[in-house]
Amino acid sequence: MYRTHHCNELRKSDVGENVTLVGWVNTVRDQGGVIFVDIRDREGVTQCVFRPEENADAAKISHSLRSEDVIQVTGRVDDRPEFDGITTVNEKIDTGEIEVVATDLKVLNKAQVLPFQLDKELSNEDLRMKHRYLDLRRPRMASNLRMRHTITKAIRDVLDDQGFLEIETPILSKSTPEGARDFLVPSRLNPGKFYALPQAPQQYKQLLMVAGVERYFQIARCFRDEDLRADRQPEFTQVDIEASFVDDEDIFATIESLLQDVFKKARGVDVPTPFPRITYQEAMDKYGSDKPERRIGTEIVDFSDVFAESGFKVFSGTIKKGGFVRAINAKGFACITTGQIKRLEEIAREAGAGGLAYIKVEGGEWKSPIVKFFTDEEKEALTERLAVEEGDLILFGCDKWEVVCDVLGRLRLEVADICNLYDGKEDELDFHWVIDFPLLGYDEEEGKWNAVHHPFTRPHPDDVALLDNEEDFGKIRGAAYDVVLNGNELGGGSLRIHESDLQAKMFNVLGVDDEEQAENFGHILGAFQYGAPPHGGIALGLDRLVMLACKEDSIREVIAFPKNNKGVDLMSASPAEVDFKQLRELYVKSTVQEKKS
Ligand code: AMO
Ligand code: AMP
Repeated sequence: MYRTHHCNELRKSDVGENVTLVGWVNTVRDQGGVIFVDIRDREGVTQCVFRPEENADAAKISHSLRSEDVIQVTGRVDDRPEFDGITTVNEKIDTGEIEVVATDLKVLNKAQVLPFQLDKELSNEDLRMKHRYLDLRRPRMASNLRMRHTITKAIRDVLDDQGFLEIETPILSKSTPEGARDFLVPSRLNPGKFYALPQAPQQYKQLLMVAGVERYFQIARCFRDEDLRADRQPEFTQVDIEASFVDDEDIFATIESLLQDVFKKARGVDVPTPFPRITYQEAMDKYGSDKPERRIGTEIVDFSDVFAESGFKVFSGTIKKGGFVRAINAKGFACITTGQIKRLEEIAREAGAGGLAYIKVEGGEWKSPIVKFFTDEEKEALTERLAVEEGDLILFGCDKWEVVCDVLGRLRLEVADICNLYDGKEDELDFHWVIDFPLLGYDEEEGKWNAVHHPFTRPHPDDVALLDNEEDFGKIRGAAYDVVLNGNELGGGSLRIHESDLQAKMFNVLGVDDEEQAENFGHILGAFQYGAPPHGGIALGLDRLVMLACKEDSIREVIAFPKNNKGVDLMSASPAEVDFKQLRELYVKSTVQEKKS
């Protein structure tokens, strides 16, 4: 037995006991020949005291210990003494009332000087990632890993209670359309053919419904070759769920009770249910996003009626072409610096705006080159609808609907961060559903209709007939829903098409011809002909869920071994080049110029 106790366990009631602890050297302090070593394991820290009179050899060795050496200490639990009436009890740690008077010491392994200190936050992320196994020793990271376990366990328990079966689906699989690029794996046994790593287990879980499983879940690894951000990794984990004979209300209830349980166990908070619901249209109009951050009070306000005939031609011209003029009030931000305005302009342009019109309300004046074009009525309308006061900054969006929403949605978030417009709601958990997404979106570049969620989503029952006429495609609502927490898309799902003919029609609408349907989707179209039950489901992003429960800003902080924003694992240096021989076996030839012949 390596240990009798963990390093968080010993208390006053253990005084007099002989114990053995193992772990890492947290700190070593020499106080006049008496050596104090804090030993740390996964659970906590215990102070050990080495006195020459107890064991001269052990005391001598303890003197040469370095941080992060791995040691085994045997000794006697003792009260922390008093000196001159002053207690040495440390209330900050669980074991602060006792110390272990060491009678034996074994060095299990020595450690070199670490590339960084474990007790300080480190901004150099590359260095952290290169030595991730050390980074994970830091208390914050260790507690994030534990939180991930707690949450995963809670999810399994809740779903098991509700009769869901955990079933694994293949990783070596076939391309399924989820909107990103596939990672491909060449097949040695089938020259010239490739598996695709799953972007999601979407088709397999639907086929499990055809198989009669009725309630499925999986903590599923998914792979998407897309541009990476704080909330996106090339490989990530979904809590993937599918059920038969359900409607959207059943899915909502399952997810609400799941998230309620998770946040109770992870954070000890009571999440009220049912979650509020807002439509996609309302989310975009008010918050400029389909994953609205509703803790920010500021909302987007429409002024298209006010400026339809305006003397400011940028506005009236856009409205005449069917566009919109909308604005937000950045409360108290008239003091914005030139640099900050430049940044906002940049954000607006990234979202597709031609420019950024704004008004500073300062010293009783409206300061902006565009104000001279405004009538008193126009100014009054702005004042009234935006509750404009001295010190405010009005930001305008003027473009077609999608662009105006996106521009003001992004500006709203940026401004709220700079000026803290959260009204003290930073710690609130705002769960809600976004419903009534459009089923189809038109891609102007490609000149074709795409599925907004994925091609397996059912049209809203009232809108099925609209599939017959391309002019109506944009009006069709999908039976799709997203669950959003504090401006983050936690998960998304839909009720599915279970009729072979409707699925084929959907593929036709998306420009997938009969031949391609047979080749890529023959299995699912075929399966739907043999008694497919009505079904639906959802997938939650586990990494995002844990990130939010841990109050982290990036999913990299809750994944043991994440990749950086170039998709590289700096620790193992993957991806890496491979042998020519290995490629030949796989019948693969790289088009990248070989550096060495
Ligand atoms: P969707 O594509 O919306 O739906 O994905 C579901 C959830 O997975 C998470 N997610 C990601 N997390 C980290 N990194 C990524 N690159 C990443 N991509 C997605 C998000 C997202 O909400 N098959 C459907 C679900 C269904 O219809 O049942 C699907 O995959 O939290
Ligand atoms: P102009 O008349 O082109 O000099 O534009 C006057 C103001 O309107 C400037 O502040 C521009 O940045 C802004 N502006 C121009 N085009 C747009 C647009 N499409 N959306 C919002 N603001 C714009």
